[in-house]
Amino acid sequence: MAFFSSRPRIAVIGAGIIGLSAAYELAMRRGARVTIYDVRPPGRGASWAAAGMLAPAFEAAAEPGVHPRLFELCLASAALWPAFADELAARSGIDVGFDRTPSLAAALDAGEAERLRRIAAVLSTAGVGHTALAAAEILAMEPTLNPEVLGGLELASDFRVHNRQTVTALLAALRASSKVTFVEGAAPLKSAGGKLTLEGHDGVLVAAGWETAVIKVEEQGALFSLVNWDTALDDIDCHGGQMLSVVAGAGAPKRVVRAGHVYLVPRGGQVVIGATVEPDRVIDAPEAEVIEALRLEGVRLCPGLSDAPVAESWAGVRPGTPDQAPFIGETITPGLFVAAGHYRNGILLAPVTARLLADLILESKRSDLIEAFSPRRPFVGPATRSSAH
Ligand code: GLY
Repeated sequence: MAFFSSRPRIAVIGAGIIGLSAAYELAMRRGARVTIYDVRPPGRGASWAAAGMLAPAFEAAAEPGVHPRLFELCLASAALWPAFADELAARSGIDVGFDRTPSLAAALDAGEAERLRRIAAVLSTAGVGHTALAAAEILAMEPTLNPEVLGGLELASDFRVHNRQTVTALLAALRASSKVTFVEGAAPLKSAGGKLTLEGHDGVLVAAGWETAVIKVEEQGALFSLVNWDTALDDIDCHGGQMLSVVAGAGAPKRVVRAGHVYLVPRGGQVVIGATVEPDRVIDAPEAEVIEALRLEGVRLCPGLSDAPVAESWAGVRPGTPDQAPFIGETITPGLFVAAGHYRNGILLAPVTARLLADLILESKRSDLIEAFSPRRPFVGPATRSSAH
């Protein structure tokens, strides 16, 4: 899509980290005018619920059933993060807590040890830095871990950021910009004569997480869901998650540590313990027994946390897709773009998603990578789509 206007106006629907990062790239780095719509308080959905891990290796290198190029996309975004973090801090005056200390993956049983061997094999082939650690080595690096640990991996590609400070910084930078307008409410999308429009805008980017498909469009006085304008959006699903944080005392780990589905993330004087993955569940509030079970799993990984007081518990909803990779690109409706379904990697993938979309929306640049994450891609492996929509 090429624009003839020298200052295109783009509507972004959804003020989570994906919509905000796209708005930042479009307005503050490329000069477009942007209106950001959200019916909920900006930045308080999945972006706020996240732990802030930037984890290409652990999340994408050897996960069964994922998009074959997800790891590459994750690495591309990880490479953008240092400059993104610096720029955001400079523009907003808010430190986003970007920390390049490599994460540790620990194995507490044979199954987890086998998973780490698979990850290490992929990292070796891809030339991505990692170090296999014997039990004594990982315990020397993080003495708070369970002494029965079998061994682990140090992952040079996997870092962390303070996701809540990042969202706060994005909001501060965008609110200070004369090119950006925030609207608390639904975007007035209209459809007439086969065209979808939002008055005063040249293009629409929908980045509304798991609710993307049900954004409303008015046609002849009735409201319909956006999925009617591209049935591919129907493939965006939801995965509830519950987690907690505890106060970080002497027994707390100093860096991100993960084992199986449990992770510990030091963040602002606390340690985040995550997370459940509950497919097809929209969870409004954490459930006491689930949080206690998760706390105990965290304590198993790091016994030094056993007496740490719980600081907070919460729930969120990850937007997913059948191949656990985002939809980034054009829909079949002209002028309607999508960025949603980032599943467990929304914080990590924000900068690359924003770049790819700005290239596409403002310059009609269709890189090989953005084509690979088109919402109309065929799914491969266990996640199949019989034909592209
Ligand atoms: N990124 C970790 C999670 O989604 O739980």
